[in-house]
Amino acid sequence: MLVSPSLLSGDFSNLASSCRRMQQAGADWLHLDVIDGVFAPNITFGVPVVKALRKETDLFFDLHLMIVNPLKYIDAFADAGADIITFHIESESDPAAVIEKIHTRGIKAGIALKPGTSAEAVKPYIDMADMILIMTVEPGFSGQSFMADMMPKLKTVSEWCAGKDKWIQVDGGIGTGNIELVAQNGANVAVSGNSVFCAEKPQEVIADFHRY
Ligand code: DX5
Ligand code: ZN
Repeated sequence: MLVSPSLLSGDFSNLASSCRRMQQAGADWLHLDVIDGVFAPNITFGVPVVKALRKETDLFFDLHLMIVNPLKYIDAFADAGADIITFHIESESDPAAVIEKIHTRGIKAGIALKPGTSAEAVKPYIDMADMILIMTVEPGFSGQSFMADMMPKLKTVSEWCAGKDKWIQVDGGIGTGNIELVAQNGANVAVSGNSVFCAEKPQEVIADFHRY
């Protein structure tokens, strides 16, 4: 399991130190939640913050765009230093066009599904995408409860991706109590906000995730 700590649970008065803390704790990626206050009910940070943090760490930047019009911002986030850009299938942009645009920038493309969206919706795009993100909370905030009822959807998508060398990411309420369950259902990248950031010893939580 790859571990991508979500900076949304970091210290917003010192995000650079939060990045370094996660790198030292053994994080594989860093998850950056960009929310526009329209697609989901929170406003986090955007291009300038990603660009500024890019100078602070060489961690793989895993951008999760919860914005209405991802297509419009791909170039800006690619310039800012994203390594993978994940956008929502429920956004207003055409998914195939967004994936194509991301790939023209030479970076990886992920496609995310909110809890209410069926697995079938993503099926036509699986071959194009590098990663599928199955949300296990409603987009917006860290610290929400994990939705175990997303496991059948996770399993279905994982089975469709079998043998295709895809990342299957889960995001929302992931912790030591459910990491085994998501791994059993096919996840191979775990986003974790509060469970990692609020831990006294984040390295122990990350090491535990790495066992799966
Ligand atoms: C929610 C974000 C998540 C969130 C995860 O909209 O996509 O990445 O920060 O935080 P936890 O792990 O605390 O649920
Ligand atoms: Zn996220």
